[in-house]
Amino acid sequence: MDMDRFQIADDVAISRLAYGMWRIAADPDTSPAHVQAKVETCLAQGITTIDQADIYGQYGAEEILGNALATAPGLRERIEIVTKCGIVAPVGRHAGARVTHYDTSAAHILASVEASLRAMRTDRIDLLLIHRPNPLMDPAETGRVLDDLRASGKVRAVGVSNFRPFDVELLADNMHSPLVANQIEISLAALEPFTNGDLAFIQRAGMLPMAWSPLAGGALLAGGRPALIDALRAMAEAKGTEMAALAVAWLLAHPAGIVPVMGTNTMERIAALNEALRIQLDPEDWFILYTAALGHDVP
Ligand SMILES: NC(=O)c1ccc[n+]([C@@H]2O[C@H](COP(=O)([O-])OP(=O)(O)OC[C@H]3O[C@@H](n4cnc5c(N)ncnc54)[C@H](OP(=O)(O)O)[C@@H]3O)[C@@H](O)[C@H]2O)c1
Repeated sequence: MDMDRFQIADDVAISRLAYGMWRIAADPDTSPAHVQAKVETCLAQGITTIDQADIYGQYGAEEILGNALATAPGLRERIEIVTKCGIVAPVGRHAGARVTHYDTSAAHILASVEASLRAMRTDRIDLLLIHRPNPLMDPAETGRVLDDLRASGKVRAVGVSNFRPFDVELLADNMHSPLVANQIEISLAALEPFTNGDLAFIQRAGMLPMAWSPLAGGALLAGGRPALIDALRAMAEAKGTEMAALAVAWLLAHPAGIVPVMGTNTMERIAALNEALRIQLDPEDWFILYTAALGHDVP
């Protein structure tokens, strides 16, 4: 199935939905065959963008993907790899760290990119994101290393994650390359970006908004928000669809072009991800769900 795609570099386009591998190490089956099956199931639906981070799976998730890519000739050429760097947690190869912290130094970013390339058995990262804003970031140093990585071809495009507008501006002002994406938490359980300026800034800057935990990590559907569940259930029934797909369609309906990053490990759910693309929401539908999520009418 053909989907709209977002061009983020001359040679890289991001698919309308992305598939995230934060939870992949928690799947009892991390075999190359199973990971290949997950990726193929995404590809069959036009979902070609895979979201990773150095730190996922205690610095092991990239290798789980790499093992699958190594045994599936040509698969790497059919996907875009997004990965992140900058969080140092005292696990895996950073077990010696005394505290979880952020490192956006040139040395750390370069070492992290080399480790990511090795782990994923690839020669390039399609989109590299700085995972979290770092209070100790030297913007000139971080900006320069991101420019250099892009110039080297090891990284095709660069962006950020969990950055506020002023964090983006600080780094962007110290770079030649554009920051093409900001991956932030957006869902019916994380509404702030619609009003706090995050999405407005992203749109104005011409960046791609990527939404992490679009189902709030599953909590959205777990029953803790009865009014929201009731609204989702009623509208899903009326439209002949599932609540999860409707919650994702609600993000897709926003004019910023939000790319939800889906995290399910369940094969049947992966196979149904693009159901969200089929659902049409008119503005009243959108506000019914927004209002239910807010807990009150808009003024
Ligand atoms: N940039 C950042 O700081 C950041 C932070 C967090 C996440 N992320 C990215 O965002 C991706 C998605 O995050 P997420 O996993 O929290 O996303 P999510 O899609 O909101 O949640 C997925 C979780 O919800 C569960 N779930 C329950 N009911 C479901 C249903 N009907 N349909 C689908 N899933 C259901 C899944 O369980 P099953 O697996 O059992 O189906 C899974 O544990 C991550 O993989 C990562 O790539 C980025």
